[in-house]
Amino acid sequence: MSAKIGVVVVSDRASRGEYDDRGGPALRACLDEFLTSPHEAITRIIPDEEALVRETLIDLVDNQGCSLVVTTGGTGPARRDVTVEATLAVIHKPMPGFGELMRKVSLEKVPTAILSRQEAGIRFPEGGGPGGLIVNLPGSPKAIRECLIAVFPAIPYCVDLIEGPFLETDPAVVKAFRPKKK
Ligand code: MTE
Repeated sequence: MSAKIGVVVVSDRASRGEYDDRGGPALRACLDEFLTSPHEAITRIIPDEEALVRETLIDLVDNQGCSLVVTTGGTGPARRDVTVEATLAVIHKPMPGFGELMRKVSLEKVPTAILSRQEAGIRFPEGGGPGGLIVNLPGSPKAIRECLIAVFPAIPYCVDLIEGPFLETDPAVVKAFRPKKK
């Protein structure tokens, strides 16, 4: 079964076509680099509107069947940065370790990493079935890889636990960690 992965670019300017979206391609390139198991990206480019971000996240998990959804942009302190609020409104289980680790590795690169409020959490679809892990990444294409490569070793096991597809990674890039069964 091909794993469906939502790629959500939250940006007023990219959604209006004022500049080329670099976040979506950067995210998809990471997924193709990290994953060796079959996967298919479902991309959405939307403005920084909280209700629209919420609806997009719900649709990707509940209707499109995404076991992983990654967002880029809208995690900062500006008035229109609302991706985190939308994420927190649609998840059922916060996974604070993701944001903690991503801020820690980013802080080794830029002091402004503390301005990213990025969160992650699990949403379980209304009608039942496997859950979806939603992970917020900052907007900068460089930050996307730095953050995603730090948390990715734990993502396949997390997806196992919410009954999603079995994700396999290229061990030369990212070693997926699955604790041994007792
Ligand atoms: N993390 C990394 N690794 N690299 C970066 O350049 N930029 C920071 C931060 N995290 C950055 C980073 C800055 S300047 C901001 S404002 C926040 O992410 C939020 O970015 P966003 O609003 O594009 O999501």
